[in-house]
Amino acid sequence: MSGIIEAKELCKIYRRGREEIQALKNVDFCVKAGEFVSIIGPSGSGKTALLNMLGCLDTPSSGSLRLNGIEIAGQKERDLVKIRRENIGFVFQQFYLMPTLTARENIELPLLFSKKNRSAKRIEEVLQMVGLADRGDHLPGQLSGGEMQRVAIGRALINDPKIVLADEPTGNLDSATSEMIFGLFSELNKRGLTLVVVTHNLDLARRAEKMYTLRDGQIVSCEERTCAGGM
Ligand SMILES: Nc1ncnc2c1ncn2[C@@H]1O[C@H](COP(=O)(O)OP(=O)(O)O)[C@@H](O)[C@H]1O
Ligand SMILES: [Mg+2]
Repeated sequence: MSGIIEAKELCKIYRRGREEIQALKNVDFCVKAGEFVSIIGPSGSGKTALLNMLGCLDTPSSGSLRLNGIEIAGQKERDLVKIRRENIGFVFQQFYLMPTLTARENIELPLLFSKKNRSAKRIEEVLQMVGLADRGDHLPGQLSGGEMQRVAIGRALINDPKIVLADEPTGNLDSATSEMIFGLFSELNKRGLTLVVVTHNLDLARRAEKMYTLRDGQIVSCEERTCAGGM
């Protein structure tokens, strides 16, 4: 198995006082470059824990995780920040947009922290990619939920990551808007982006090429979409 994401026997233990919570138990998980993968599972099954490990937002208790060939376990926070910035874009359920910045400014925000030059062309390209070419000057408060999530997806894309990780990105959206967001994910995937999306919605999860189910910190099944293009 070789992939852009390779997790082997990944474990995560959280400690709450004296209590130990095993959020991930020996998870083996591999995503190939260009794949569109979804993860479902009941609340508390470890979906966010897994995604946070994959995105270097949190560190595994044991096991190995390789991103784009780089071993993550044992890396210093400073190096993790760099690996994250160069490889990963994150999308969250709550959008986390800056309310006083326009859509365009929210999308270009990560460029402040990366060494990449701010390019007006790149920003317009990303606005176009997420379907917001005519909304760049709007503040988040002037946008619908679906549009706000598109801004957040644009922000995740601006540094041209290899992988986008999304944690319940449609959890706050109605079903038609959720469909559109997954449509956008499919389009981005066709352009070569690797996607790992956590969702509660089985119909949406099935639009990915592979659907993993987590239960009690373990992957209990992997369903592969057999007929290409059939959704
Ligand atoms: N920071 C934390 N401290 C203690 N326990 C945590 C922490 N984060 C998650 N957990 C626990 O780990 C388990 C998995 O949580 P999580 O990954 O958030 O599940 P999901 O995203 O599938 O709902 C749960 O039992 C949760 O209570
Ligand atoms: Mg969660």
